[in-house]
Amino acid sequence: MKKRLLLKDQQRLKELREEIERVSTNSLGYPVSKDFDFGELSSFLKFPINNIGDPFEDCTYKVQTHEMEREVISFFAKLFRAQPNDYWGYVTNGGTESNLYGLYLARELYPKAMVYYSESTHYSVRKNIHLLNIPSIVIRSQKNGEIDYEDFKNTVKMNRHLPAIVLTTFGTTMTEAKDDVSKIKDILRKLAIQDHYIHCDAALSGVYGVFMEPRLPYDFSDGADSISISAHKFIGAPIPAGVIITKRSNRDRISKGVSYIGSLDTTITGSRNGHSSLFLWYALKQLGVEGLRARYRHSLEVASYCVSRLNKVGVKAWHNPNSITVVLPKMPNELKLKWQLATQGEISHVICMPSVTKEQIDLFIEDVENCEVTIEEEIPFDF
Ligand SMILES: Cc1ncc(COP(=O)(O)O)c(C=O)c1O
Repeated sequence: MKKRLLLKDQQRLKELREEIERVSTNSLGYPVSKDFDFGELSSFLKFPINNIGDPFEDCTYKVQTHEMEREVISFFAKLFRAQPNDYWGYVTNGGTESNLYGLYLARELYPKAMVYYSESTHYSVRKNIHLLNIPSIVIRSQKNGEIDYEDFKNTVKMNRHLPAIVLTTFGTTMTEAKDDVSKIKDILRKLAIQDHYIHCDAALSGVYGVFMEPRLPYDFSDGADSISISAHKFIGAPIPAGVIITKRSNRDRISKGVSYIGSLDTTITGSRNGHSSLFLWYALKQLGVEGLRARYRHSLEVASYCVSRLNKVGVKAWHNPNSITVVLPKMPNELKLKWQLATQGEISHVICMPSVTKEQIDLFIEDVENCEVTIEEEIPFDF
């Protein structure tokens, strides 16, 4: 029998709700969109939806949203110019799991390979490589955060006897720099490294990469073998989610049948969040390609506005071409806390997600102008 919540616990819930609402309003430093409304789907919360198994195979458990999941995968496969008869994928728990899958597939194809990734790569990649126990080499980044192609070429040259797995990033975490997949492919070709695999981590920028002018190479037609995105970032969702798109022919080489679920065990986790596929399907149906394009245009305009306003008040802010991430010198603690500005080394950033408005940027700039410029107190670290 279930009890009603005690008054004190009801009060805690109320306070938590208010606190989440308060802190959600001022967040400018993390790539999460907040302008979603999945109210129409609330009745689905009554069901134990579980997308266990391969979304493209039959499964004994029927309380699932595999059909929606397949449509989401097809949408992104098309967006990323995968071969119509050679793509596969699934909805993951987020970009980290999607990257893990790309690297797992690559390692299964080339067990003796070396992994290369730049120093601007998201921190989770190092952990994924460690979990998979693959040797790896970190490549230098250029100042804007993009991989240093010369360093990549020279490093790979020294390891030409090994297959190469390259993890490129399309939208690095701090500066939203984009590694050029076709340049990477070209270097591998010139060095005659035939056994290679390129996984593109497009967590944030992958969803709007197709709208960039000029187009930047990152997708299957440009040479990627798999691409990952985080769905809760640009699209927005109440629960973190991601997508991995791979080539079906590669997935076929690792799939194993499991009689308990009556499906193929091709995904990393067994039980999988079926609500996420539903949310994502719903958002894509509502937005479509044109809706995503409009969101990107808005974000880019707000990012340019943010840079020029910051420059006018004397802050040396900049953004990479086509990027919605505005990079600024490390901000004082007061601002970092109020606006939840992610900070690493000497830089902080503001990410102009679709839910960020010029009015919000104005409020932020007002705080920047009024702030005493004592750049953050470092905690003394004496031995
Ligand atoms: C470039 C990049 N890759 C991967 C991730 C990890 O994604 P998630 O938080 O969805 O696991 C992030 C998160 O910010 C990211 O910026």
